[in-house]
Amino acid sequence: DGSFQFIKYEKNGSIGVITLNREKALNALCDGLMKEVAMALDDLERDSAIGAIILTGSGKAFAAGADIKEMQNQEFSNVFGGNFLNHWTRISDCKKPVIAAVNGYALGGGCEMAMMCDIIYAGEKAKFGQPEIAIGTIPGAGGSQRLTRVAGKSKAMEMVLTGEMISAHEAEKMGIVSKVFPTEELLPAALKLAEKIASHSKIVTQMCKEAVNAAYETTLREGLHIERRLFHATFATRDRKEGMSAFIEKRSPKFTDS
Ligand code: CAA
Repeated sequence: DGSFQFIKYEKNGSIGVITLNREKALNALCDGLMKEVAMALDDLERDSAIGAIILTGSGKAFAAGADIKEMQNQEFSNVFGGNFLNHWTRISDCKKPVIAAVNGYALGGGCEMAMMCDIIYAGEKAKFGQPEIAIGTIPGAGGSQRLTRVAGKSKAMEMVLTGEMISAHEAEKMGIVSKVFPTEELLPAALKLAEKIASHSKIVTQMCKEAVNAAYETTLREGLHIERRLFHATFATRDRKEGMSAFIEKRSPKFTDS
């Protein structure tokens, strides 16, 4: 799609790939870039052929954070009144699985954006951090919340209070990242993961994502209830019947996303 200024966007079979393409500013997440990401996600969500989405960076960065030049002269009344960054939730609201492939810096809003995705794969040179404190502000798009849920209070506090970066391997140990790859192998690995995910029933995949997200966002009792109900709901699909029949008949399932 040649119509975007800040991202590159392509469809590769059942996979959508969004590449942040503002290399000179280390993919700083200006308003225009976030709007384009939202437009691409709208399109990918509408497209029934798409089963998984990859979000990645370019050059030295996944993304070096919210655009400091755009924020520099903002006033409280504007950011509060306009609920600044509210629309960033578009990524975490996506119903299809989103994989962040992080090569390079994922700082501030960039780290938060990666954590809004469902799975993070990292290149071995990637760096993660919440450096907002060093510029007199604090994380504003989930850094103090998602990081704390994933890595626990002590690690999250250390990161947000010092603003220091951590390596991909440290991020993996902390559970922020699920796997680390040599730089060149990151995107192929993310594609392979996306293809595996997209090979399953898209409707059941959506239920599965919703169930895992419930663990993240509610109490155990309520989460278990949601999980059980979604599990029951898979019995309303043809794909559940097909999956189990294929197993019994010792053949591969043919899912129809219905
Ligand atoms: N916003 C706007 N521009 C940015 C940027 C950002 N977050 N990060 C980098 N850039 C720009 C730089 O201003 C520079 O532009 P110019 O060429 O016009 O000067 C260009 O990208 C290259 O950056 P550097 O020269 O700084 O590159 P470097 O290799 O020396 O350093 C870096 C790399 C350590 C990542 C450094 O750029 C940096 O510290 N960036 C800012 C990181 C940061 O503070 N992020 C948090 C932002 S606040 C936030 O995200 C709030 C929130 O929670 C939503």
